[in-house]
Amino acid sequence: MCGIVGYTGYREAYPVIIKGLKRLEYRGYDSSGVALLNTGLKVYKKKGKVAELEEDVIGKDLHGHIGIGHTRWATHGEPSDRNAHPHLSNSGNLAMIHNGIIENYVPIKNDLLKKGYSFKSDTDTEVLLNFIEDIQQNNNCGLEEALRIALKRIVGAYCILLISKDDPETIIAARKGSPLVIGIGKGEHFLASDASPIIEYTKEVVYVNDYEIAIIRPDELILKNLGNEKQTPFIQKLDLELAAIEKGGYSHFMLKEIHEQSETIHDCLRGRLLPEVGKIMMGGIENHIDALKNAPRILIVACGTSWHAGLLAEYMIEELCRIPVEVEYASEFRYRNPVIHKGDVIIAISQSGETADTLVALESAKEKGAFIFGVVNVVGSSIARLSHAGAYTHAGPEIGVASTKAFTGQITVLTMMALKIGFAKGTITNERYLQLMNDLNAVPEKVAVILKNTSNIERIAEKYKDAHDFLFLGRGYNFPIALEGALKLKEISYIHAEGYPAAEMKHGPIALVDENLPVVFVATKDSYYEKIVSNVQEIKARKGKVIAVATENDTVIPSMADDVMFVPDADEIIAPLLSVIPLQLLSYFVGIAKGYDVDKPRNLAKSVTVE
Ligand code: G6P
Repeated sequence: MCGIVGYTGYREAYPVIIKGLKRLEYRGYDSSGVALLNTGLKVYKKKGKVAELEEDVIGKDLHGHIGIGHTRWATHGEPSDRNAHPHLSNSGNLAMIHNGIIENYVPIKNDLLKKGYSFKSDTDTEVLLNFIEDIQQNNNCGLEEALRIALKRIVGAYCILLISKDDPETIIAARKGSPLVIGIGKGEHFLASDASPIIEYTKEVVYVNDYEIAIIRPDELILKNLGNEKQTPFIQKLDLELAAIEKGGYSHFMLKEIHEQSETIHDCLRGRLLPEVGKIMMGGIENHIDALKNAPRILIVACGTSWHAGLLAEYMIEELCRIPVEVEYASEFRYRNPVIHKGDVIIAISQSGETADTLVALESAKEKGAFIFGVVNVVGSSIARLSHAGAYTHAGPEIGVASTKAFTGQITVLTMMALKIGFAKGTITNERYLQLMNDLNAVPEKVAVILKNTSNIERIAEKYKDAHDFLFLGRGYNFPIALEGALKLKEISYIHAEGYPAAEMKHGPIALVDENLPVVFVATKDSYYEKIVSNVQEIKARKGKVIAVATENDTVIPSMADDVMFVPDADEIIAPLLSVIPLQLLSYFVGIAKGYDVDKPRNLAKSVTVE
């Protein structure tokens, strides 16, 4: 969380930085700020979104060919002007922005206070900055050396950009745990938390690794480790087009991303799923098929929406591959000293590939000898690089904070994985393998059918938008989708929503049911269909309002439900790829009907790079 941008070169830095910050706003939008260097060092910062900063600086001196900018997701210190980054050091010589958390900032701050330092903000960042300044003054050394000493003494995660009045062409950057990409231009360099602010200027980038320091001037990029040894920058070509990170005529990124799903699922399948020859081509699996099919158990580690994809994968892998699977919240897994044996396979699922809890959980599992398979969307991200093998979801950049197309991309990859491993292991018949491949292949077309006309879902959203609570119920493969539907609604509309296995509803949530409670049933035709029909009856008997996701041509569920959202028929293993789409749209339309910023829901951030 928190987005950072830096520029040094021949252009005016301010417009590059502001545009970049807008692209990174999905990482946090509690406050934003810029620092620009020309004859002096100027800092402008403001609580709220980047647009508010832009308004605030109208008429001010924004000149400068070097600058750094930050959009914040608050950790230490409430969102306010004074806690916004960049921060200035006590001498006024240095300005710094930071993405991450310095855990041992309290004793450092106390030491600095004793030495007479004062602090304008409540942030850990201002402490680190003054710590660096103090080291520089005491040791009479350069900024780079002072930074190196400071970084060896702090505990936590960081990506920092630092500029100094004494060296008005240079940005010094360092990373541990929080991402940093450097774009290489001709006579200019760009720095950012991800490639989106860089893409329109250059496609040549370097992903900075943990424990590296970068010294960046218009014509020079020097990479060093914390031991002051030079590292060779590994220059990569970005495979990303500008159009992919723009709204393309849609009113919101979330809506655009929901509508892209027919295409993104197709992209994910393309060249991999070959039903005509009965093959699934996935290098990451083929090269490690023995480790995967002989795994004594599979652990799935993820957070948020990705965790829901993991839960679905548990159902698929256990059914198709007969391998025991456990699905873990990364934040719990990393701290509870889990039992991991050599040979265990860990599947890490992450859109961003940067989620701090997932990343650290994997690092420790890797040390214990587990084989890590990454299912990641962002190419070149930290989790992708840490994994032994993996498969990208190929959903393209996802900007809306609530995950949609990345989720269906994850399910698509995980379904292909389960099919491929199950087939290699001999735990599914040839016939079932081919049938599921064909069903999966038909998904993009069926998604397009759902998206063709969304007015019924918009009507349902308008009807229930004032409800205070929602229940989402599903059984079997539709249970993770019920959880995901509830999470989407919470995130986007701020309505309290809970997802439950439909039968478990009788053990508590049924007490909530009255004529005001909308209950969403994910009730497509599957092996639990008769059971879920009974669950719908139980809600109706208590006057609950039933909204159902039902299979086209079903007549039973629609006859009982107050409102229905239809999806095309599919095998129960494949159906979640369809049944989730109306739920994404429902939360989108409720959020819009309530007048909320659906792309940037309050308090959330897309890439959670703090614990
Ligand atoms: C945040 C996002 C969610 C996402 C979760 C995990 O909470 O708002 O949409 O599911 O992080 O992120 P990851 O990038 O690891 O999938």
